[in-house]
Amino acid sequence: MELHANSRQKITKKRKIKIFYGTQTGNAKMLADNLYREATERGHEAEVIDLKTYDPEDNLVTEGENGVWIVLFVSTYTDGTPPEGSEWFCKWLEESSTDFRIPKALLKDLHYAVFGLGNSLYTENYNAVGKKVDRFLKELSAKPILPVGLGDENVAESLKGGMEKDFTAWKKEFWKKSKKVKDDDTAVKDTCGTGKKTCDGKCKCKEDGGKCSSEEEEEEGEDLYETTTEEEDNAEELLNEDRDGSSLQTTNGVVDLEDLGKVMQTMKKAKVRRKKEESAQSTGEPREMVTPMLKKALEKQGYRLIGSHSGVKLCRWTKSMLRGRGGCYKHAFYGIESHRCMETTPSLACANKCVFCWRHHTNPVGTEWRWKMDDPNTVFQGALDNHVGLIKQFKGVPGVKAERFAEGLEPQHCALSLVGEPIMYPEINRFIELLHGKGISSFLVTNAQFPDAISNLVPVTQLYVSIDASTKESLKKIDRPLFKDFWERFIDSLKALSAKRQRTVYRLTLVKAWNTDELDNYADLVSLGKPDFIEIKGVTYCGESKASSLTMQNVPWHEEVVHFVKQLTDRLDGYEIASEHEHSNCILIANTKFKVDGEWWTWIDYPKFHQLVKDFNQSQKTFSAEDYMAKTPSWAVFGAKEQGFDPVETRFFRKKQKDIGGC
Ligand SMILES: Cc1cc2nc3c(=O)[nH]c(=O)nc-3n(C[C@H](O)[C@H](O)[C@H](O)COP(=O)(O)O)c2cc1C
Ligand code: SF4
Repeated sequence: MELHANSRQKITKKRKIKIFYGTQTGNAKMLADNLYREATERGHEAEVIDLKTYDPEDNLVTEGENGVWIVLFVSTYTDGTPPEGSEWFCKWLEESSTDFRIPKALLKDLHYAVFGLGNSLYTENYNAVGKKVDRFLKELSAKPILPVGLGDENVAESLKGGMEKDFTAWKKEFWKKSKKVKDDDTAVKDTCGTGKKTCDGKCKCKEDGGKCSSEEEEEEGEDLYETTTEEEDNAEELLNEDRDGSSLQTTNGVVDLEDLGKVMQTMKKAKVRRKKEESAQSTGEPREMVTPMLKKALEKQGYRLIGSHSGVKLCRWTKSMLRGRGGCYKHAFYGIESHRCMETTPSLACANKCVFCWRHHTNPVGTEWRWKMDDPNTVFQGALDNHVGLIKQFKGVPGVKAERFAEGLEPQHCALSLVGEPIMYPEINRFIELLHGKGISSFLVTNAQFPDAISNLVPVTQLYVSIDASTKESLKKIDRPLFKDFWERFIDSLKALSAKRQRTVYRLTLVKAWNTDELDNYADLVSLGKPDFIEIKGVTYCGESKASSLTMQNVPWHEEVVHFVKQLTDRLDGYEIASEHEHSNCILIANTKFKVDGEWWTWIDYPKFHQLVKDFNQSQKTFSAEDYMAKTPSWAVFGAKEQGFDPVETRFFRKKQKDIGGC
């Protein structure tokens, strides 16, 4: 049985559609491109335009007069501001809508649609720009094709389950509503199957006893575009492709019903799955943290994802030490073996949008755990399996040392500092116990936004707090925190740290001209949290990023870091410079309790630590940082000629200084 291909064509009017985007990190452009693809597939005349390049003053009124529809994708940034380059468009709209000299009917001929991109965790500024643009357009009498769409990156709160799903639902509504807009004068009418403007009744469509495609305009009919899931989209894509005859088997413009049946079946299955998902949501089941779009972005950056909220990645120093080319600064400062180090996180989400973290601006954010949770055994085993899998890829790679490779298959250290906020994971304590149970040490880094979680944390080998700035103002600028009471949380976190008995560390990342001249404030913070160690590192610059204004000018030279450290140490009682890792532009200040008879003991006796943890688990016998310290080798002590480079390793100079970072 055959069905005439033309009878499925739902395109009723060809429109001129200009799709604008205003973006900082590319999401709005991605959605604009997606709509553009669909618009052209549906036969519309579409164009994608960056708001940066568009002057509304010269063009917007005439768009309406020429029957052009406009669709705007625009994101919201810090304190509710528009993304870079879109300011003028937004300002012009605002001024025009409030200027009494400009007629209120200025844009009366313009049909428009707005989709805002934002995150509801920024409560009062949520999608502020999208909402404002919609309001100003309305005030100037432009006609909304449908209500403003609000895309919410906050998966837990978003209406449909995240940005992509919000967009898909809005898009579906957009196409549906667009069929109903009555402006025949502005739309280009579709032709009938014969190619003529008006049907003469002899076209193929009529042979099937149906209506001609040129007569279908106002018909609601079966909604081929009622799709929201990926599978449904794929099925729809097949149908869309079919419109130009490129996908389904067609003979002389006819389609096998068998092919169409397959497509319909896929759509049906996907719809059943969607219904199930929706019903799970209506019963209050939490959503997954990582959306398919995020997953794709993270995997592209080299992350291996575990379950729905955890990840591992092979650190560059792990690879370096497998080859005998030197370990990271934690090797010099604390004796970790970088080739046996697993860099992981059980929570890819965190409560900040730090400028240093520009590589990961795709990360989910949240102020509390509102997502589906994987159990700690799954996360632990998944991390281990994936890490070992990544190490195995180095088998036989030229330069990799056989004994290091064998050791690498049995990780001894876990750096919980990959990306995100590990302490947000509600089962973090159990996860740490699993690590220790396998003889793996724990180096956990937190962003100092969850003081209670710090207090409730079981003993870890070394607990870090990131001190990205020393004043409320600079912390806001650098960490771009989600919490309104971020400063109070920060201070309380430092107080919670001071109550810990095991090793504690402040980690300072110096960004020249941003946080390097607040020495007295840093000294105050040290007296508050009383850390055992202070690691000071120059920021790493890995290239230009749209999400951060960091430039090469912000990267301090090693001498500048040394100078800062000396000045800071002068302000601190009971601290001295202990070690250095020039290779990664990092210096260690230590409390002098780790200096025994004039010699530094900043390294860790790992077997002793594991024994102490065992005793603690059995009898709650507490222990302190001094109980598991080990002597620092001479090459790692500050002032040594090796500058923290282990002499058994061979230094390798990269041609291009790409990423000297690490965790
Ligand atoms: C530093 C920063 C500040 C943000 N501030 C807001 C905000 O105030 N309101 C909001 O709704 N979303 C805010 N967001 C979320 C963005 O709008 C969201 O990530 C969006 O997807 C970005 O889209 P784009 O890539 O097109 O710029 C912020 C994001 C970042 C990184
Ligand atoms: S930089 Fe971090 S992840 Fe890499 S080897 Fe060192 S401790 Fe491990």
